[in-house]
Amino acid sequence: MCGIVGYLGSGSAVPVLVSELRSLEYRGYDSAGLAVIEDGNLRILKAAGKLSNLEHILKEQAPIATVGIGHTRWATHGEPTDRNAHPHTDEAKVVAVVHNGIIENYRELKDELLKKDYKFGSDTDTEVVAHLVSYYYKQNKDMLNAVRQAVSRLQGIYALAILSPAYPDRIFAVNHHYSLTVGLGENESFLASDGLAVRPYTNQLLRLEQSEIVELSSSGYKLYSFEGKEVKRSPITSEGSLYIIDKGGYKHFLLKEINEQPTVLRQTLAKYLPDTHKPVNLKKENKGLVNGLHTAGITLTKEQIKNIDRIQIVACGTALYSGMVGKYIIEALAQIPTEVEIASEIRGRKLLVNERTLTIAVSQSGETADTLAAIKEAKEAGSHTLGITNRPDSHLAHITTDLITTECGIEVSVASTKTYIAQLASFYLLGIYLAEEKGLLSPQKSAELKHQLHLIPTWQEKILSSSEDIRQAALKYSSAKDVVFMGRGFNYPTALEGALKLKELTYIHASGYAAGELKHGPIAVLDENVPVVTILVPGVVYEKTLSNALESKARQAKMIAVAVEDDKNVDSIFDTIMRIPTVDEFLSPLLTVIPLQLFAYFTAEALGKDVDQPRNLAKSVTVE
Ligand code: M6R
Repeated sequence: MCGIVGYLGSGSAVPVLVSELRSLEYRGYDSAGLAVIEDGNLRILKAAGKLSNLEHILKEQAPIATVGIGHTRWATHGEPTDRNAHPHTDEAKVVAVVHNGIIENYRELKDELLKKDYKFGSDTDTEVVAHLVSYYYKQNKDMLNAVRQAVSRLQGIYALAILSPAYPDRIFAVNHHYSLTVGLGENESFLASDGLAVRPYTNQLLRLEQSEIVELSSSGYKLYSFEGKEVKRSPITSEGSLYIIDKGGYKHFLLKEINEQPTVLRQTLAKYLPDTHKPVNLKKENKGLVNGLHTAGITLTKEQIKNIDRIQIVACGTALYSGMVGKYIIEALAQIPTEVEIASEIRGRKLLVNERTLTIAVSQSGETADTLAAIKEAKEAGSHTLGITNRPDSHLAHITTDLITTECGIEVSVASTKTYIAQLASFYLLGIYLAEEKGLLSPQKSAELKHQLHLIPTWQEKILSSSEDIRQAALKYSSAKDVVFMGRGFNYPTALEGALKLKELTYIHASGYAAGELKHGPIAVLDENVPVVTILVPGVVYEKTLSNALESKARQAKMIAVAVEDDKNVDSIFDTIMRIPTVDEFLSPLLTVIPLQLFAYFTAEALGKDVDQPRNLAKSVTVE
């Protein structure tokens, strides 16, 4: 979490730093701050809350500087206050430090520094780094050495940027199992946790590898390993086009992104299924540029696919739920036993995968620390690895053998919507591909499936055109304190996702259940105050799901359904019905989630919540 930025050149540093921070606000918005060198001294400006608070301060006290570092925070250690906002410095103001990640041994280091009479002014783990660098610098007056010595004491995964008035033409940055990109312009250099923040200024990018230190000047950089060896690596020219970030006339990014879903699905299908009558083509030979995004695919040969006896999916949050749908799809089509694990639950356990396993990591950002740790472990165990991500320039994209990139463009709103649809599409495509390669799908069945997939965007548009009905439904239930979502089979993950969307956008407590599980305990929470949302689509679990809904009705719950147009059974059972075009359960997750996204959005809007940046969250969760 958190975003780090830096600028060094002949231009004015503050506007560049602010614009870089604006691009990284998705990584946290608990506070923002800058450190610049003004008249040979360190000047620090910071404020709790969103970047706009810092901007107010900057308007009044505009520092004049050509070098600086900045930070946008998602609080881990210490409340989101001014005093805990980055940058942090030592008492003598030898250095200012901004930091991503967690210093796991900070307590031990803090005790050591307290014994040496160092005074602490915050509750953060970051401040330890400032004191430590300052401590080593005082000993040998060599900043690079001091940084190396400090880093050798740190445990955890992190990235740092360090500024010192003793080196007014340098920024020192450290990357340890994180993401940090250097941008090189003409006599100016940039630094950011995500390449997209420096991309508006230059397309010459150098991505730091794990455990590297960079000494940045306006004319270039020197790269070192933690051991102090100089590393020779040239920047690459980024071919990707700039991400355009605008609301396109919508009130919120979230609403725009929900409405983009038919386009996103069409784009993903156009990329991987250009012709419905040809076999799905996800081969790595396709690696190249499509619409400015890198594309790649599957290198697995027919023989390798035959040898895969198990698929392991790892992910977090919404990406996890797409993986759960993925399991149902792959098992139904390719008949390969598939397990889905919460990536953070793999920590401290051994992931039981081997060369006969395909491990799939799903991550919109491609930077989620838990997901990365899990896929790295799978790789080490010899498993074939596949990443599904929206960011072809991400850490995940770099470390997996195979890659499916979703065609979403940037997703700005913290709550995932369009990337979920694209992840689901990736699993349908993958399922079809694996089944075809295993000879399990007849050409007719395959063509029919692809044809059906191509129909979905139009059906999604139909749901979106009924947004006003969903808004009315949301208004009816916006005073609820607790909401239950349930579904079976392909729509059990939809229930989980519907509950997650409502929780994160509205802060209303919501739970998603496999409908058949309700009677095993959760039904105890139901009464006339609890809305129950049932996802009900034609298929083998329809009747049983309907029975589970009736069990809720018998407990006086408020009854809401997501149901298909032709379903007349639901009219007399449910108080509110959100209709979707008639679809079979197999493809239904591509539709059923949309009314739930809109329901959560309109509820949040009615309650006056911060729709695009809900409290306590960050879009990219880079701590474990
Ligand atoms: O970038 P990732 O897909 O790996 O992120 C995983 C989760 O943090 C993410 O899906 C989160 O749950 C979203 N806020 C959901 O809307």
